[in-house]
Amino acid sequence: EPSAPAEHFDAVIAAEQRIEPRDWMPDAYRATLVRQIAQHAHSEIIGMQPEGNWLSRAPSLRRKAILLAKAQDEAGHGLYLYAAAETLGVDRAELTEKLISGRQKYSSIFNYPTLTFADVGVIGWLVDGAAICNQVPLCRCSYGPYARAMVRVCKEESFHQRQGYELLMTLMRGTEAQRRMVQDAVDRWWWPSLMMFGPPDGDSPNTAQSMAWRIKRHTNDELRQRFVDMTVPQAEHLGVTLPDPALRWNEQRDSWDFGEPDWSELQQVIKGQGPCNAQRIDRRRAAHEDGAWVREAATAYADKSKGQSSE
Ligand code: 3HC
Repeated sequence: EPSAPAEHFDAVIAAEQRIEPRDWMPDAYRATLVRQIAQHAHSEIIGMQPEGNWLSRAPSLRRKAILLAKAQDEAGHGLYLYAAAETLGVDRAELTEKLISGRQKYSSIFNYPTLTFADVGVIGWLVDGAAICNQVPLCRCSYGPYARAMVRVCKEESFHQRQGYELLMTLMRGTEAQRRMVQDAVDRWWWPSLMMFGPPDGDSPNTAQSMAWRIKRHTNDELRQRFVDMTVPQAEHLGVTLPDPALRWNEQRDSWDFGEPDWSELQQVIKGQGPCNAQRIDRRRAAHEDGAWVREAATAYADKSKGQSSE
């Protein structure tokens, strides 16, 4: 006797199986997935800007080629994720409009400036490192298209983190000025990287429901802790200090204790008052407008070939 759709949905979630686009799902499940996947996609596309700032000024052809490959990967991650969002009945043009008009978010981390080339290395090491902590569990998300997109993203993300760490290791073996440049970048990106995981669990309106629906597999604080525990030994190996005087190993917890991020800063940046929010959106709007002729040409061509095939 096939159970009612809601019972079937609950049984699939409870059994750690996948909900697919044609399955019945609660409207709120669909809505929170559109929210999270769209904002994840927006983050990938906006995330190309901070690093793009160094494409024409990379110190060697090798570094330029690596950065070009990484920026291209981020664009691809955005496309996988917009495609995953579209399986839920939304259209990427509508999502882009919501991003540009500020009705949808993107990750706070991309609203900080990339002041030196060491920032490119620190973004690879810390920001893509944080992204890996956040995205690996999403490979086990209950919504099929999102989980499958994450499997491919995570493979490419590990290259992003490794190239960043190798870039920093090279600088740390350079001059005293280069070592200072790395430390300065670490000082500026450490706390914003911890904020990428979202507000503390007590302040996270979406976490409980997302965990119940097995969209989120760990809470914001759990993933933040996992990132700190992974990163502290890497910082020691690199020879940089992390700008947190409260950082200390906790024998009982077998984990690192660390200080409290400035949550008012996160709220400011999310609200659009970060150092680069206006510039990021202006550039995204300009790119969208400059690309209108390509979309019009592609649509006209598609209509024409549709017309021919129906003759
Ligand atoms: N930046 C911007 N907005 C944030 C944020 C951040 N760092 N952290 C939380 N928020 C927003 C949430 O979107 C939510 O607002 P909304 O309801 O309008 O969407 C609000 O603050 C409350 O936060 P919650 O913790 O309740 O929200 P979530 O349960 O959605 O958790 C999240 C936030 C951890 C970012 C989660 O959405 C998530 O895991 N998203 C998928 C991964 C992602 O988007 N990563 C962005 C980093 S970019 C990246 O990974 C690309 C790589 O190449 C660098």
